[in-house]
Amino acid sequence: MKLDNSLVVIKSNNKKYLTVIKDGESFITHNGKISYNDIKSLPYTVKSSTGEEFIIYTPSYKEFVLLMRRGPQIIYPKDVGSLIVDGNIRNNSTVLEIGTGSGALTLFLLLILGKKGMLYSLDSDSKHQYRASKTIYRYISTFNKDYEYNLELIHKELIDFRIINIDKDIDTIITDVPEPWQFFYENKIEKELTWVSYLPSISQVEKLTNILKENKFENIEIKENLERYWIIKDNILRPKNEMVGHTGFIVSGRFIV
Ligand SMILES: C[S@@+](CC[C@H](N)C(=O)[O-])C[C@H]1O[C@@H](n2cnc3c(N)ncnc32)[C@H](O)[C@@H]1O
Repeated sequence: MKLDNSLVVIKSNNKKYLTVIKDGESFITHNGKISYNDIKSLPYTVKSSTGEEFIIYTPSYKEFVLLMRRGPQIIYPKDVGSLIVDGNIRNNSTVLEIGTGSGALTLFLLLILGKKGMLYSLDSDSKHQYRASKTIYRYISTFNKDYEYNLELIHKELIDFRIINIDKDIDTIITDVPEPWQFFYENKIEKELTWVSYLPSISQVEKLTNILKENKFENIEIKENLERYWIIKDNILRPKNEMVGHTGFIVSGRFIV
């Protein structure tokens, strides 16, 4: 079967599921059963055993990371966008990510950096890194099996990491660990570089900001992104009552000279 092992979203009127098509098997929902062999191409519309209509298609990045099974808490997509811009990341950047975690940010970085850029991703937990690399492969192989990228996973505690051991000049350091300031215990930045951190709590923000200042970083910014979705249904067009308020703060700065 051509679509065997494809990653798909199965969407009904009010619910989305992330699944992998398996030849000869079925997907069971509250609204009936869908036989994977009934899906002939992507995107596709099928009726379940109870007559409910479902649309089957390839997930976007956002759908994939929000629906996937994961280990450590991921960075919410709205914050990923900000981290990329505030981190001044381009398709030929060399980036050091501190805290691979579930690989949600790593995946988006690789989608931007492709084969021109380079990503080093550090984590002290090899299980997280193993799972993250599977997640990355799962998504990338879904949209392009030949997509090339340069990723080196570094399995280390941040306090044991020495930037001088990296061959290339790093353009951006991007962090999602509770104590990113540990980087400065044994490392000194001497070349131009952008720093961007994702931190849930203001006490962490204060500590990091002081350390960035001590290390002569300029243009230090602290911000929070608030995102409000709207309901679009029949002739109703209004903000939703509930919203994701706080996720994390984004702290950025630039070492210039
Ligand atoms: C919240 S997760 C990162 C999630 C990731 N940004 C994502 O979007 O999927 C934090 C990760 O940092 C790692 N970590 C925490 N403190 C660390 C340290 N001091 N040195 C190295 N890794 C650390 C943890 O093992 C965990 O995998």
